[in-house]
Amino acid sequence: MFKINDNYLKLPGSYLFSTIAKKVNEYQTANPEKDIIRLGIGDVTQPLAPSIIDALHGAVDEMAHAETFHGYAPDLGYEFLRNAIAKNDYTDRGADIEADEIFVSDGAKCDSGNIQEIFAQDNKIAVCDPVYPVYVDTNVMAGRTGTYDPKAETWSDVIYMPCTAENNFAPDFPDEVPDIIYLCFPNNPTGSTITKDQLQGWVDYANKNGAVIIYDAAYEAYISEDNVAHTIYECEGARTCAIELKSFSKNAGFTGVRLGYTVIPKDLKCGDVQLHSLWARRHGTKYNGAPYIVQKAGEAVYSEAGKAQLKEQVGYYMNNAKVIFEGLKDAGYTVSGGVNAPYIWLKTPDHMTSWEFFDHLLENANVVGTPGSGFGPSGEGYFRLTAFGSYENTVAAMERIKNM
Ligand SMILES: Cc1ncc(COP(=O)(O)O)c(C=O)c1O
Repeated sequence: MFKINDNYLKLPGSYLFSTIAKKVNEYQTANPEKDIIRLGIGDVTQPLAPSIIDALHGAVDEMAHAETFHGYAPDLGYEFLRNAIAKNDYTDRGADIEADEIFVSDGAKCDSGNIQEIFAQDNKIAVCDPVYPVYVDTNVMAGRTGTYDPKAETWSDVIYMPCTAENNFAPDFPDEVPDIIYLCFPNNPTGSTITKDQLQGWVDYANKNGAVIIYDAAYEAYISEDNVAHTIYECEGARTCAIELKSFSKNAGFTGVRLGYTVIPKDLKCGDVQLHSLWARRHGTKYNGAPYIVQKAGEAVYSEAGKAQLKEQVGYYMNNAKVIFEGLKDAGYTVSGGVNAPYIWLKTPDHMTSWEFFDHLLENANVVGTPGSGFGPSGEGYFRLTAFGSYENTVAAMERIKNM
């Protein structure tokens, strides 16, 4: 008789965005005449930039001829893409990362969920609270998180690092020293970030305590302030303690195209064992590479034309962020984020819970956002709006909220 991995049964409720979709569908069915504006899920809405479309077309045409056809991609990614990443995202920023320390993948969600596989079961993880739910849930599936307290909405073996208005949404070093520290800056969902000096503090902490940092920089392209690091490898000592995850979803609109990468420096070791070699083994065994066509599109992201077009695209979303930030402020809300990230984080009014405010906004403004409590217990009483909608919808949503 087969047995299931019953760690899956420990996972509470359904995935946050499934619950939101269900609620919105029910509301729309009951109110078919209502025009709902969705500023909930962090999906982009603008079309791919012209230089990326050209690269995709070119690569498709190559696949039509035996001489230029491409089958399986190299396990760790094509060199043309890894070289472009190493130069543009690292060397040009003064960060010491080689092309062969980069593992190309089909996105940061898979990598952020899978990376825990190369660590022992009895490692203790620490997460920012609130944060992207994938880090905790995948450790639950792996049986690393202990027991769930439904009242507190916490796991007994997870170290939560609250990020609230009281600490300016930046985590403090935890009382108990973790083995694996997940950091995500600019942060989803709070839209906040930490300074380069603060990040250096975490690198020093990890090196001192023999911990590893898994640094999710999916929103790096949205950084506008000078004192914020674009990669953790700008910090001294990060090569011996940090893994970095990157995505092409938010900087280049690849949510439906799928491309990302993970960096594991060769200096990152447990005893004599390089984490790089473990991840290379894992990648080679379980993954057959992002498609050639998509990697060619990824290369175009780093072309001069691509860079200029994507700067404009990110600027478009950041203008929406400004509209939301200022609109909410004018309407009397307490808001943060939106400066180095496409997320605006607001305090719910009148002590409403996050889900109460979700219903309130859906029913009274026909606007969908995301309850902060879905990202961790310290997100309760907060709410996230995204800047990834169209400008017109963003402006309309703000008008509706102001008139609520
Ligand atoms: C923090 C964070 N990491 C990773 C991802 C997933 O990125 P990808 O589309 O590359 O899988 C997201 C998506 O919303 C995210 O918010």
